[in-house]
Amino acid sequence: MTLAELEELKAASLKEIAAAADAAAIEALRVKYVGRNGSIPALIKGMKDVPQAERPAFGKAIQAWKAEVEAAIRERGTGNRESGIGDREELDLTKPGRWMALGSKHPLTRVIEETARIFGRLGFTVVEGPELENRFNNFTALNTPPHHPSQDRTDTFWFNDDCLLRTQTSPVQIRTMMANKPPVRVICPGRTFRRDTTDATHSANFHQIEGLYVDTKPVSLADLKSVLAYFAKEMMGDGVTVRFRPHFFPFTEPSVEVDFTCHVCKGKGCRVCKDSGWIEVAGAGMVDPRVFQHVGYDPAQVSGYAFGFGVERIAMIKYGIPDIRWLYENDVRFLKELA
Ligand code: DAH
Repeated sequence: MTLAELEELKAASLKEIAAAADAAAIEALRVKYVGRNGSIPALIKGMKDVPQAERPAFGKAIQAWKAEVEAAIRERGTGNRESGIGDREELDLTKPGRWMALGSKHPLTRVIEETARIFGRLGFTVVEGPELENRFNNFTALNTPPHHPSQDRTDTFWFNDDCLLRTQTSPVQIRTMMANKPPVRVICPGRTFRRDTTDATHSANFHQIEGLYVDTKPVSLADLKSVLAYFAKEMMGDGVTVRFRPHFFPFTEPSVEVDFTCHVCKGKGCRVCKDSGWIEVAGAGMVDPRVFQHVGYDPAQVSGYAFGFGVERIAMIKYGIPDIRWLYENDVRFLKELA
């Protein structure tokens, strides 16, 4: 074959492609020219029989032909078959759309957002504080003495004598009160850090949601209980309420631990609540007068309550997640199941 003949074949093939009636015809031409047994690959195979001197020019011409045929086919649309673009015969507007994977919110984000919505209805606003705190906000102002175990280097990530990764969201209480006059009514979600060894229920960093209500009108433990009971029902469903157990926190007096009715058995007793009918979810209490003194409030003039939830804990019981580590592994199969 001469170069001129080759050019003729090329022109004919391009004409054929341009004239093809539908996608099937284009596909047939693709097979004919550039398919595995097509004429262009056959020519390439036959190159060894072309005289040495003509080979470069011949090779170039064949490659150019191949590229032009492929471009022409692409232009006619079969190279774009899936989208139907440029392939009028295949465009069917009545076909169902193609499914696209939508992301979903992480369970921890969902719990935080839902909590903000529920407390928002009760007049609480959301405030945030830094993850890097000083000793005063994280401990001293919260009436936690230097010898308290939580201040120990084995329990807390210290950067230097004064600077640490906050062990709780309670310092946001301090920041809020120092920056605002009462009444204050806030919730403070955020990340917290402790030197815990990771296992199914512990993680060195986790999340809390702090709550604080302080007013110049008298605030009582009954107010705290009613607000938490409302939260329990809204978050976990009808039939879920709260009970208080006496406890100790340095920054509240009296202090309580807060249990929700087990949302699985509604209090009857089951595996999830270890037959007690209750699940521990938070610490809470009436703000200690010493805390008020530290932030410059007059304890004779104000009263209030505070509480602190573990976000992971609520997510784990709400969604039935048995291992805290699943919340951090970013395995989309797990996230999809909750979507
Ligand atoms: N900060 C406490 C903790 O990390 C939780 C807590 C308890 C927060 C009582 C409070 C509170 O505001 O009043 O264990």
